[in-house]
Amino acid sequence: MLPLHAKRIVLGVTGSIACYKAADLASKLTQLGAEVDVILTAAAEHFIKPLTFQSVTGRRAYIDQDLWGPEGHVLHVKLGKDADLLLIAPATANTLAKLAAGQADNLLTLTALAATAPLMLAPAMDGGMFDHPATQASLETLRAHGAQVHGPVSGHLASGLSGVGRMLEPAELAGHARVALSAGGPLAGRRVLVTAGGTQEPIDPVRVIANRSSGKQGYALAQAALDLGAQVTLVSGPTALIAPVGAHLLRVQTAVEMRDAVLALAAAADMLLMAAAVADFRPSQAADKKIKRAEGVPTVELAANPDILKEVSQQAQKPRVLVGFAAESNDLLANAQGKLASKGLDMIVANDVSAQDAGFEVDTNRVILLSKDGGQEELPLLSKYEVARKVLEKAASLLK
Ligand code: CTP
Repeated sequence: MLPLHAKRIVLGVTGSIACYKAADLASKLTQLGAEVDVILTAAAEHFIKPLTFQSVTGRRAYIDQDLWGPEGHVLHVKLGKDADLLLIAPATANTLAKLAAGQADNLLTLTALAATAPLMLAPAMDGGMFDHPATQASLETLRAHGAQVHGPVSGHLASGLSGVGRMLEPAELAGHARVALSAGGPLAGRRVLVTAGGTQEPIDPVRVIANRSSGKQGYALAQAALDLGAQVTLVSGPTALIAPVGAHLLRVQTAVEMRDAVLALAAAADMLLMAAAVADFRPSQAADKKIKRAEGVPTVELAANPDILKEVSQQAQKPRVLVGFAAESNDLLANAQGKLASKGLDMIVANDVSAQDAGFEVDTNRVILLSKDGGQEELPLLSKYEVARKVLEKAASLLK
């Protein structure tokens, strides 16, 4: 099931050049499973056509003329009442001023007055207009009425100037919408701690011992936990991935740094999902200067790293649910069962990393969920996000 399945979003689009990005936003929200009803203001129609939005949402996009059409007098009330979220992106200074004053002179502002759903605003305008006391006062009023305001950010502006006025990027806005729509989910009020990626153990200032973990499964777990309404902290080894919007990200490099971060956070967490590929060994002494080739082939002596999961499971104050991950190249079930018991886990996610379509770097995974009570559930080949949802749903049931 898609993350925003059955969620209804009214996307208000107002007259700013950032309208072209609103089409991407509408597409992203639709791809996440939401039903997106777009309302354009008359000024927005100068920049972009309703057809553009209809083409990406598969639904009718509304303009002011529709106010006076056959659906007429109830259209704004229907759109407003049905919505789970009213997102206005881009939101111009003019629309912000109207909304703050409670004016309702077009389909969008009428719908905003009629809506009971949360209001999210993504302002976009020239820097000077954003800084103007009138705009700032509008935003203050709207925040006081409960609106969430995201952006604008700093950068190049259509005026050729640069400053704070750019609409937040569609991917980030979609992330904020996702967080807002997950409120009250099955993990609402729960703290979920996720580790992701591989650790790196320095040999010298330029070289490390690393592993092939991309962090994709761990980041997908963080996103899935957010989608179920949890408060998420993501402790991540080095990776190029972007943390999901709403997750609190802590970056670490080594296994020891990850252990320290996890132990500091574990006592307050309800659940730990330990997806990181923690290096079992580190160079016992990292050289403080780059090792030179002319010095000959070095011998790197290794020392054992802490077993983070085992340490957590031995703490008096620990998460109610501990989930481990076993990436194996052989004897999958026996090895995973052994880790489930020896690390004191409630559940372990076993995956055979020798398969081409599962494990490292790829976007899919094929796993078996083993639980403490002897339960065993083999999942088909799924996207890493779908695997994450299944893992989270099972772990959430263990919290009960
Ligand atoms: N793990 C950990 N600390 C370590 C090594 C692993 O917390 N030093 C966690 C991993 O994050 C994972 C689980 O333990 O959730 C199993 O990791 P894995 O590497 O498969 O197990 P190891 O105990 O390291 O055993 P081996 O590498 O010998 O298979």
